Amino acid sequence: MSDGGSLHVEVTTIEQLTPLIKHFTLRPVDRAPLPAFSGGSHVVVVMRGAHRVYRNPYSLLSPPFDRSAYQIAVRRMEDSRGGSHFMHDQVFVGSRLEIAHPVNLFPLDKIARKHVLIAGGIGITPFLAQLEDLHDGVIPYELHYAVRSPAHAAFADRLRALAADSVKFYHDSEAQEIDYDGLLSGQPLGTHVYVCGPAGMINRVIATARRWGWPDSHVHWEKFSAPPVGDAFEVFLARAKIGLRVLPDQSLLEAIEAAGVEVPYLCRGGVCGFCRTTVLEADGELLHHDHYLSDADKARGKSIMPCVSRAICKSLVLDL
Ligand code: FES
Repeated sequence: MSDGGSLHVEVTTIEQLTPLIKHFTLRPVDRAPLPAFSGGSHVVVVMRGAHRVYRNPYSLLSPPFDRSAYQIAVRRMEDSRGGSHFMHDQVFVGSRLEIAHPVNLFPLDKIARKHVLIAGGIGITPFLAQLEDLHDGVIPYELHYAVRSPAHAAFADRLRALAADSVKFYHDSEAQEIDYDGLLSGQPLGTHVYVCGPAGMINRVIATARRWGWPDSHVHWEKFSAPPVGDAFEVFLARAKIGLRVLPDQSLLEAIEAAGVEVPYLCRGGVCGFCRTTVLEADGELLHHDHYLSDADKARGKSIMPCVSRAICKSLVLDL
């Protein structure tokens, strides 16, 4: 099943849930129990295309107590750099995939008095596993799920079966909107809010929570988005003594990995801080797209998060 860092799984079912979302069941090739995980965890799926290797994070949405298989859902992204199209067009029942061990960067707070969960579209996925943990009803919770239309409401039946009284659906097609002020202004002390969805929704929840005096420690968000594209640029890895070119639709991390140099990572989304890399020389502009480095760190220009950040430099030298 595992070669130390990877798990080898086979796709055993694929279901087209909505016009854009496919649901995959992944069983370990050797049928041994998979590593345990908690609600909110994700795995990074390695996709080996003809010319490129993609590594995309996907939330685990299966019940955490089920170690016989993992489930993920993949939305076909219109502006995909290749990963979501690979999953939709080149992965079939019987395909074998390599995935990293689960990591949880979006856990439920253990001492919260109440949980308010807000999902937009494919952002529902981490909450599906969390609902299994909340199912015992000890801690009160409510889930607000916004989608384009009923046809785009992936997992609606499962949500109704799991938490009918605690789930509210909002359909853009019927001009239904989440009342963020109403939702976040009247919650009991000790409530935590969690949001996963498009950037606009995440920013709105964060801004509304701040306006109503929520401590930042009670506001949790998860954003899986593809690394930004940009102009190609050159980079030199000082210790490996390798010069390489980062293509417009390739992340700096992907380019480094393609050159055979390993960089630690967890989220591949500019959040966890694991890929932080020292910049030895940069005679231009570093384009920081992460949510990890402080503004002061970014201004100093001595570190970069290669999973999402790029550069416009004549010469960029990294301590790798
Ligand atoms: S891998 Fe998490 S910040 Fe880069």
